[in-house]
Amino acid sequence: MSIAAAHQDDSGEVVLAARNIAKSFGSVHALKGVNFKIHRGQVTTLFGENGAGKSTLMKILSGVLAPSSGDITLDGAPIEFSDTIEAREHGISIIHQELSLAPNLSVRDNVFMGRELTTRTGSVDYAEEARQTQLLMEELEEDIDPLTPVEELRLGQQQIVEIARALSINSRILIMDEPTSALSAAEVEVLFKVIRDLKARGVSIVYISHHLEEALQITDHAVVLRDGVMTAYARREDIDLEWIVRNMVGENFDLGSPPEAQFGDVALSIDSVSVPDASGVDLVRDLSLEVRSGEIVCIYGLMGAGRTELLEAVAGRLNLTGGRVVLDGEDISHLGIAERIRRGLVLIPEDRQRDGLVQTMSVGQNLSLASIGAFTRALFTSPKLENEVIDESIDRVHIKTSGGSAPIGSLSGGNQQKVVIGKMMATHPKVVLLDEPSRGIDIGAKAEVFKLLAERASGGVGVIYSTSEVGECLSVAHRIVVMRRGRIAAEFGPDVTKAQIMAASGEAID
Ligand SMILES: Nc1ncnc2c1ncn2[C@@H]1O[C@H](COP(=O)(O)OP(=O)(O)OP(=O)(O)O)[C@@H](O)[C@H]1O
Ligand SMILES: [Mg+2]
Repeated sequence: MSIAAAHQDDSGEVVLAARNIAKSFGSVHALKGVNFKIHRGQVTTLFGENGAGKSTLMKILSGVLAPSSGDITLDGAPIEFSDTIEAREHGISIIHQELSLAPNLSVRDNVFMGRELTTRTGSVDYAEEARQTQLLMEELEEDIDPLTPVEELRLGQQQIVEIARALSINSRILIMDEPTSALSAAEVEVLFKVIRDLKARGVSIVYISHHLEEALQITDHAVVLRDGVMTAYARREDIDLEWIVRNMVGENFDLGSPPEAQFGDVALSIDSVSVPDASGVDLVRDLSLEVRSGEIVCIYGLMGAGRTELLEAVAGRLNLTGGRVVLDGEDISHLGIAERIRRGLVLIPEDRQRDGLVQTMSVGQNLSLASIGAFTRALFTSPKLENEVIDESIDRVHIKTSGGSAPIGSLSGGNQQKVVIGKMMATHPKVVLLDEPSRGIDIGAKAEVFKLLAERASGGVGVIYSTSEVGECLSVAHRIVVMRRGRIAAEFGPDVTKAQIMAASGEAID
């Protein structure tokens, strides 16, 4: 296998070749001598588990990080980048896995941040910047005013802005590290159209995604990284999904089946709830849903169906315009977030990067953070016990880290997501809400997270999780609720088919 990888295809014009790239962070060997090629006008996808080294390799190619050893040639000439600006001047740009936008600035100012256009007199040409931003939004088929502050956009739209910024650079090599993690199916389609156009213009793309099926649709070359080593390479026409999974993790995973249904009383009752957006339009409309203790409910819906708004309102992060939230028979609609957590209702949010983690703290501190305050003290009676909980969480969701004291920023993107999940689970909830729990995590970790949900449900916890991947509905859920335009459009048992779920959501099936 490594021989195949070492001879990564030479057909077609190679624009960039990286040889023997190694990168260490202290004692962590993130890359151990990787050979990697990028072909003109083609898409190369990097597959690999969380922490395999994908982002590290891409950061080296785009000038964010310097390699510990190894060399890079561009058009056959050796090259070194001291920073991203230099890489950009050579036509290489990157869309980062973690959004790097300034939330309080407008879409326009984010797109041109650090590369402002100027008029002949030398002042910033805001009008031209706005015009170009508008064109980019049109190309990406997104109805966003260039002057909107980024913080007012939903996560998927922020990702679109990130993509627009990279497109505005007119690069020859465009690296996309998990560009679609928060995009709707329709937005992914548009992005793929853009990628096809870029290819036709000779632009090379490197693509990284944990949505394996989706990546297969767009890629020409597939590369698998495992523990900092390239373990497999193939051309698209020679592989299928099974090949990727086998090479990524060495075995095939399924996402489990519903645990034995031993339901107790109604644990959480969402009663005729409406949730408005900033302008007062209801994103969730008069919606009712109950979950019993021991029951797992999956909410499926397209992006924009109101899933996130529903879960955030139930957790106390958004206001209701009507209805009640009842936990264990008690109306908790008037309570704040912390009080809801204390009573056993926790949310694992969609935007875990922003909401779930404190970047300056260690892995361990983040794991125990949710339970800060009186609650923590009751939960962790001693530092020793707390450390045990942290170590158990690291072990449980397979967080790849050098230990509980490592800074959170040193973890790979997917492993940071796992910290948030581990953290919330450590609070012993009665009801847990998970908004897209599988986003950004590898297939092995997905199976692990669903197993954890099944175990918690067997122990009497009521679980509601949302997903926009229809395959994930058919895992551990006892009941599948399909949301469409703020309402429940259909409800199914676990024996439903993917087609039935998609039809109820309003999704076209091909
Ligand atoms: N700044 C850093 N300091 C210390 N260790 C780091 C740093 N950046 C990355 N690492 C480590 O290098 C390894 C590879 O991380 P990388 O981010 O490249 O993984 P990845 O393949 O992109 O994973 P994911 O799918 O989760 O995004 C991990 O073990 C990670 O903890
Ligand atoms: Mg990564």
